[in-house]
Amino acid sequence: MFQPPDPVRFQEILDDIVDRMRFETERGAAASYIPELADVSLNRCGIAVAPLGGPVLSSGDSAVPFSIQSISKIFSLVLALGHVGAALWQRVGREPSGDPFNSIVQLEFERGKPRNPFINPGAIVVSDIITLKSREAAENHPVLQLCQDLADDHTIYVNENVFQSEVATGDRNRALAYFMLAEGNIECDVRQVTESYFRQCSIEMSCQQLALATRFLAAGGNDKGASRFGVTPERARRINSLMMTCGCYDASGEVAFRVGLPCKSGVGGGIVAIVPGVASLAAWSPGLDEKGNSVLALKAIEELTRRLGWSVF
Ligand code: DON
Repeated sequence: MFQPPDPVRFQEILDDIVDRMRFETERGAAASYIPELADVSLNRCGIAVAPLGGPVLSSGDSAVPFSIQSISKIFSLVLALGHVGAALWQRVGREPSGDPFNSIVQLEFERGKPRNPFINPGAIVVSDIITLKSREAAENHPVLQLCQDLADDHTIYVNENVFQSEVATGDRNRALAYFMLAEGNIECDVRQVTESYFRQCSIEMSCQQLALATRFLAAGGNDKGASRFGVTPERARRINSLMMTCGCYDASGEVAFRVGLPCKSGVGGGIVAIVPGVASLAAWSPGLDEKGNSVLALKAIEELTRRLGWSVF
């Protein structure tokens, strides 16, 4: 079992990592498909760690809210599993896709059953389940509610401008949803389902809030907050497994190689990593690599886990 270092040493390590990131010249490029993401400064960089049973430690821009985008797929998966349990796996697979997160090709070959819940079509099926079960009100999206409850922070919000831009640029996601509708894998209205998906992508959280909201996965489901949502130790293990194999799009293998922890990234530049039994981590910097993962957030997590010897292997 890994132990976190003492808090003073830990803080020094986090500050040192963020300092080093300032000098990195290879910073990637911010997502360009909507202005709200394209306009964020590439100089932003933050990291936060939520150890089990201890206060959050953080450095850099760790209190600045950013667009969580695909990281929301962890929370929507928790809700859908809470609603339908293992029946989810009849509609969504559990294999890495090896394809970009918004690819249509594989979906056609596989008759409308997405490879996993962390690529867009998988997350859209998950949204279909949530839409059917929770009759959401637009102001009170169930994924937002879950994030607020898990982080115990009701200041977490949906950025309405991001949401409007996601809707305006969302034809490819609607195409994925219509294709799955044609294959019998979507039950609700496509517009309603995709808007639910866009809304969860538009939630904004800081690294500190994200580390807190995902700590239940490090606790292996032994967490009062998460057990209210049906997250048993077995379910937490399985979500972690999916994050390890599918959490960083078609770079999941590379991230497992470099970090060796369950991770989930989003095109807002955030990455969450879970050290089972020890802590949850969140890092953010908006510049992405060609696969859509944050260059500096990944580097920061890699550096931290290397220095602390944190890996599930
Ligand atoms: O679905 C989309 O196209 C955007 N909201 C991107 C979400 C994301 O982070 C990458 N998707 N897996």
